[in-house]
Amino acid sequence: MTIRSVVLGCGSYLPQRVVTNAELASRIETSDDWIVQRTGIRERHVAADGEFTSHLAINAARAALAAADIDPQSIDLIVLGTSTPDNTFPATAVAVQHGLGINHGAAFDLQAVCSGFVFALATADNFLRSRSFKRALVIGAETFSRILDWNDRTTCVLFGDGAGALVLDAQEQGGGTAADRGVLTTHLRSDGRHKSKLYVDGGPSSTQTVGHLRMEGREVFKHAVGMITDVIVDAFEATGQSAETIDWFVPHQANKRIIDASAHKLHIAPEKVVLTVDRHGNTSAASIPLALDVAVKDGRIKKGDLVLLEAMGGGFTWGSALVRW
Ligand code: UT7
Repeated sequence: MTIRSVVLGCGSYLPQRVVTNAELASRIETSDDWIVQRTGIRERHVAADGEFTSHLAINAARAALAAADIDPQSIDLIVLGTSTPDNTFPATAVAVQHGLGINHGAAFDLQAVCSGFVFALATADNFLRSRSFKRALVIGAETFSRILDWNDRTTCVLFGDGAGALVLDAQEQGGGTAADRGVLTTHLRSDGRHKSKLYVDGGPSSTQTVGHLRMEGREVFKHAVGMITDVIVDAFEATGQSAETIDWFVPHQANKRIIDASAHKLHIAPEKVVLTVDRHGNTSAASIPLALDVAVKDGRIKKGDLVLLEAMGGGFTWGSALVRW
């Protein structure tokens, strides 16, 4: 028997306030047309004053626990992907653990920017399959609105706030084939030669300030499709699956043009692609679990479906995962 990390439930949370392209166009030199054509984004959610990344994460985690219909006390691992922690330390995951009333097991943050959720999923999956822990909450939560330079039109129109969470359970699954439920494979990469193409110009050790997000958008775009397709090919090769056998493609939601080009290059049918970038913008580590929750709630992703995840972001970091839902 093979141990697999099986998805018991997912959940998400978006701050109430919606900022439309039209609102941004009233504040800076941009237009709804430019943002929609270049990115596919129409609106994004922005956290209220006093609403922290941990608050979004706790709400998403509660929704995932309710969907899974399990006792929160059965969770013994929390891995939180975020680049916008409440504080430099302790880990925001510890605030989430406390907020959920859990005080056993382990909780930690994982920082891989927009790839944070795929990295967190791979980390939790490895801990569950090695029997170190039994049941995990994997969360992506961000308040990128707090690190944006709202006068820089090349970045501030792209990002949004939100959180999503999955409950994973270590289960014995048959013979360990692609037909069994659970995380089938994960593939993670990073290459620090690109670290100055998407970064935050502050930090405790360098400037003692929080800093603002800076990006060479065209450079990121140039590398994105190749990196994304490479790790997806790795996932297909590791499992014998293909663009034909997957049911859903749930990519990191940075830019509709990147998503369309990746799907096209891999011959993934457009109707299999889950898109939420229009409503959420780029929520970094939160974008994949937010999109998963949308597609589960509207009835697209069902038990037994084969779901392909990918992300690429600052570092650069990039990764893929194949999950039998
Ligand atoms: O999460 C992973 C990390 N992030 C990404 O994956 C983002 C990757 N990059 C992108 O999505 C795209 O590069 C952007 C959406 C950021 C930009 O699209 P682009 O087609 O690469 O545009 P560009 O940067 O080449 O800019 C084209 C023009 C420029 O004007 P000039 O130099 O041609 O006169 C910009 O100044 O658009 C101008 N521009 C804007 N105009 C209106 C840049 N931002 C804006 C704006 N509104 N918000």
